[in-house]
Amino acid sequence: MQQPISLLLFSFFFSLPLSCAAISGAAGATADDEISALLAIKSGLVDPLDALGDWRSPADPRDSMHCNWTGVGCNSFGSVENLDLSHMNLSGLIADDIQRLRSLTTLNLCCNAFSSSLPKSLSGFSLLGELDVSANAFVGQFPTGLGSSPALTIVNASGNNFVGPLPEDLSNATSLEIIDLRGSFFQGSIPASYGSLRKLKFLGLSGNNLTGKIPVELSELTSLEKLIIGYNELQGSIPAEFGNLFNLRYLDLAVGNLDDAIPPELGKLQQLTTLYLYKNDLEGEIPKEFGNLSALVMLDVSDNQVSGPIPPELAQLKNLRLLNLMCNRLKGPVPLGFGDLPRLEVLELWNNSLTGPLPANLGRSSSLQWLDASSNSLSGEIPSSLCDGRNLTKLILFNNAFSGPIPVGLSTCISLVRVRMQNNRLNGTIPGGLGKLPKLQRLELAGNDLEGEIPGDISLSTSLSFVDLSHNHLQLSIPSNIFSIPTLQSFMASDNLLVGGIPDQFQDCPTLAALDLSNNRLTGGIPASLASCQRIVSLDLHGNRMTGQIPVAIAMMPALAILTCRTIS
Ligand SMILES: *[C@@H]1O[C@H](CO)[C@@H](O)[C@H](O)[C@H]1NC(C)=O
Ligand SMILES: *[C@@H]1O[C@H](CO)[C@@H](O)[C@H](O)[C@H]1NC(C)=O
Ligand SMILES: *[C@@H]1O[C@H](CO)[C@@H](O)[C@H](O)[C@H]1NC(C)=O
Ligand SMILES: *[C@@H]1O[C@H](CO)[C@@H](O)[C@H](O)[C@H]1NC(C)=O
Ligand SMILES: *[C@@H]1O[C@H](CO)[C@@H](O)[C@H](O)[C@H]1NC(C)=O
Ligand SMILES: *[C@@H]1O[C@H](CO)[C@@H](O)[C@H](O)[C@H]1NC(C)=O
Ligand SMILES: *[C@@H]1O[C@H](CO)[C@@H](O)[C@H](O)[C@H]1NC(C)=O
Ligand SMILES: *[C@@H]1O[C@H](CO)[C@@H](O)[C@H](O)[C@H]1NC(C)=O
Ligand SMILES: *[C@@H]1O[C@H](CO)[C@@H](O)[C@H](O)[C@H]1NC(C)=O
Repeated sequence: MQQPISLLLFSFFFSLPLSCAAISGAAGATADDEISALLAIKSGLVDPLDALGDWRSPADPRDSMHCNWTGVGCNSFGSVENLDLSHMNLSGLIADDIQRLRSLTTLNLCCNAFSSSLPKSLSGFSLLGELDVSANAFVGQFPTGLGSSPALTIVNASGNNFVGPLPEDLSNATSLEIIDLRGSFFQGSIPASYGSLRKLKFLGLSGNNLTGKIPVELSELTSLEKLIIGYNELQGSIPAEFGNLFNLRYLDLAVGNLDDAIPPELGKLQQLTTLYLYKNDLEGEIPKEFGNLSALVMLDVSDNQVSGPIPPELAQLKNLRLLNLMCNRLKGPVPLGFGDLPRLEVLELWNNSLTGPLPANLGRSSSLQWLDASSNSLSGEIPSSLCDGRNLTKLILFNNAFSGPIPVGLSTCISLVRVRMQNNRLNGTIPGGLGKLPKLQRLELAGNDLEGEIPGDISLSTSLSFVDLSHNHLQLSIPSNIFSIPTLQSFMASDNLLVGGIPDQFQDCPTLAALDLSNNRLTGGIPASLASCQRIVSLDLHGNRMTGQIPVAIAMMPALAILTCRTIS
């Protein structure tokens, strides 16, 4: 009985000094050595701001002064533990001597101007926990060796010019929680072995030149919260097993060559707030299971080959703020329930084959900012609720079959910047008040069945730059001050029934570049004051009933390239 106890005591007493020796060994031999390592590192650096001015050899190394140097932090044994050289405008070389700092737990070189390569082997840091070399211009291959740092939790090398394969040996550093290798020129495929990093929360590989398929093994990363691997050239299908990444909040697979159908299993991701699948070759239908993604805020499936109807289940996504389905092959109606989405801000549906009306209450329960449903086959009246949230800036509905009036409410929608509703079947008059909208820049109503007059308040605008009212049935005369809008660049009202003369009110039109009033019933002469519009490039007055000569001043305008007055009699 006694023997084992004494053995135990023996080994306890004798292992104590041994383990101390082990710590100080790992902690770097001596302060001397670390000081010389730091000075060697400094001598490789270009330091235009003299940020490391206090890195000077001390009189007596036993002072441990280096622990107080800018960016240097020591542990309780006086060994360098942190090296934070971030944001110092440094460039030059990272000397191999950095490996002599054996106790390093944090190395931060972020946000400098390095354009060299990292030391070939960054191995041997048995205590290294965090490495940040992001936001530089490091070149060459990413060094191997970090995989043997068992304590490593963070590797951030984003925003550099690394080439070659991704560092596969990182898959041996099983404590890793963050790998950020976004924004370089890494090539080859994503190592399947990364799937063994069970603590990984963040994997960012986007914006490189990665090819090949997405390894299904990534679906074993059960701690993963953010997976950002878009903006590469990845191919093949999205692994259905990604539906098992139950901690996933952010999934970015945008911009690549992914094809096949979108797996319905993704609908199991209860925590998912962001799903970016845009600009791939995805086919099939949008899974109705997406209606189960109750945390979803951003859904972007645009620029794919997705077909079929928009699942009405998407209207269950009460947190949705952005829904982008543009440039696909969707058909059928816009789900009525979209009108009740309480947070919807951006709805992009353009360039599909959608039919039927927009939900009559769209914009009533949310603060809609952007609506683009152009180039579909939508019909019915334009909902009067679109600006109820007082935040609508972009209303783009051109190339559809919308009919009925322009909603009167739009003329008090002070947030509006763009109204583009050309090529529909809108009728009735242009509501008054649009000219008083302080931010309105584009007003495009061409190719409709609008009648009545051009509202006089348009002349009061201080923001309009592009106005196209062509191809309607507008009557009466052109408001007299309309060409005094200080920001106006292009005014088109051809193919209407406008009468009277062109207002001689061009005193000061510094920006007007194009004026098209052709094919109306305008009379009188070309006002000489038009010559004050020195920027005019294109002037089309043909197909009217105007008389007289082209004033010499106009014929000599410096920028004028196209002057069409053919039928002036
Ligand atoms: C580090 O600097 C501080 C003041 O900046 C000083 O109080 C301290 O004694 C210094 N420590 C060492 C080890 O030089
Ligand atoms: C330091 O870097 C910043 C950002 O890169 C740059 O704007 C600034 O001009 C640099 N300063 C010097 C003195 O080089
Ligand atoms: C990595 O560094 C960049 C730039 O320094 C930073 O913007 C980014 O958030 C970091 N990545 C992670 C995952 O923290
Ligand atoms: C991981 O470590 C093992 C054992 O040290 C080694 O054989 C293997 O090559 C390493 N894996 C990678 C991807 O480097
Ligand atoms: C990497 O991708 C960029 C942009 O996507 C491209 O310009 C470059 O040619 C690619 N480089 C290689 C080596 O494929
Ligand atoms: C997910 O959606 C499908 C189809 O919409 C539905 O049948 C199923 O019950 C939903 N599952 C969960 C967990 O909500
Ligand atoms: C419309 O979408 C189709 C199919 O996705 C695409 O090929 C086409 O380029 C898009 N058109 C425009 C004008 O973007
Ligand atoms: C309106 O939009 C702006 C951003 O464009 C946003 O900051 C603001 O919160 C929005 N207002 C409402 C009521 O949603
Ligand atoms: C607009 O057209 C609709 C038919 O689409 C018609 O019922 C309505 O009377 C028209 N309104 C006006 C003002 O012409």
